[in-house]
Amino acid sequence: GTPDAWIPRDPRLVRLTGKHPFNTEAKLRDLYAEGFITSSNLFFVRNHGAVPKIDQERADNWQLKVHGLCANPTTLTLEDLRTKFQVVTIPITLVCAGNRRKEQNVVQQSLGFSWGAAGLSTALFTGVYLADILAFVHPNRWAKHVVFEGADELPNGPYGTSQLLSWATDAQKRMIISWAMNGLALEPDHGYPLRLVVPGQIGGRSVKWLNRIELSSVESQHHLHFHDNKVLPMPLGPDQARKEKKWWYDPRYIIRDLNVNSAIAQPDHEEILDTLLALRPTYTIKGYAYAGGGRRVTRVEISFDSGTTWELAFIKYPEDAYRTVSFASDPIYGDLDMREVDTCFCWCFWSFEVSLERLKNNNAIVVRGMDEALALQPRDMYWNATGMMNNWWFRVVIHHLE
Ligand code: MTE
Repeated sequence: GTPDAWIPRDPRLVRLTGKHPFNTEAKLRDLYAEGFITSSNLFFVRNHGAVPKIDQERADNWQLKVHGLCANPTTLTLEDLRTKFQVVTIPITLVCAGNRRKEQNVVQQSLGFSWGAAGLSTALFTGVYLADILAFVHPNRWAKHVVFEGADELPNGPYGTSQLLSWATDAQKRMIISWAMNGLALEPDHGYPLRLVVPGQIGGRSVKWLNRIELSSVESQHHLHFHDNKVLPMPLGPDQARKEKKWWYDPRYIIRDLNVNSAIAQPDHEEILDTLLALRPTYTIKGYAYAGGGRRVTRVEISFDSGTTWELAFIKYPEDAYRTVSFASDPIYGDLDMREVDTCFCWCFWSFEVSLERLKNNNAIVVRGMDEALALQPRDMYWNATGMMNNWWFRVVIHHLE
């Protein structure tokens, strides 16, 4: 069997890269049907190598080393994290930078494998604020970056990446060191026993199986910090990108925040509408949208004429419900208090009601979103060598029976 054969996995998940490593997304309609919170068995998985096999005993003795350019280096156990810092629970949507890459690979094969539009998932993550841990170790004045390393062994060393110290210490960015998802211990695929979760940034920054945090004067030197999660300039093809190393080391091309994006979940690409429409006079087009960096999606627009005219869709932000409730010191979730928080770190849902007539007379539905910084999804694809951050207008062709 494969190195991960010991992990049970939901048969509804679609494997994206053969047998190993395990990379998967649900079918978009299944993901959408889950609603706001994704159960962990349908949560997308992006693994660069074999999942470290960590048993209960090793997990109980897990050591998170925090060291480097700081006054008070330390090693923390899970028990230390649970008892010495404020425990919080936050709903967070993780999105792989490769979400929707399949559309790019149709135009020209990129360096990455094909994700559909379900390379994202949402969970209630429980853990402690990274900012609190950094305050505890006291970074000194030479520290500029916070480097994170996981326990997975890859051909070019462990997985790792970094954050700017100024971002990592910003409590509003709400980066957390997490041990639980939806109230249960992390699944092996999602970083058991401990991971970083970085809201609003691409999933690649949320290091799984986290065992080391280093305060440093330079950014992460890990292989995949340089050779993944970049949007290289458009003229560069995959072959040239492989050869010309300098591009990968150019700090301008790193991806941090997610860009604004949206997709249509209903109808899905294969759906034949007539049978459904025969039952009622109107049809509800539905989908999701998200933005990066804590920004809110402020409008979603639908077009039936390939973008000549647009109409506003109705947006629902389930995340807002969490702003109206609060609880403290729950034995599993710790504190949940988002009443003072106005950032958006989760996906939202949109819907648009159309008459049967209008659907019959049109060939395609197009959607685009805008965020509160007025960033608008582009009409044209920004094809790039790694095939990342694809957010051009999402289009579904309407299939009729006749
Ligand atoms: N962390 C480690 N240690 N190893 C990895 O391969 N993949 C990253 C990130 N953290 C990865 C990792 C990438 S590219 C993504 S998109 C997210 O984990 C995916 O998180 P998930 O598998 O829990 O959905």
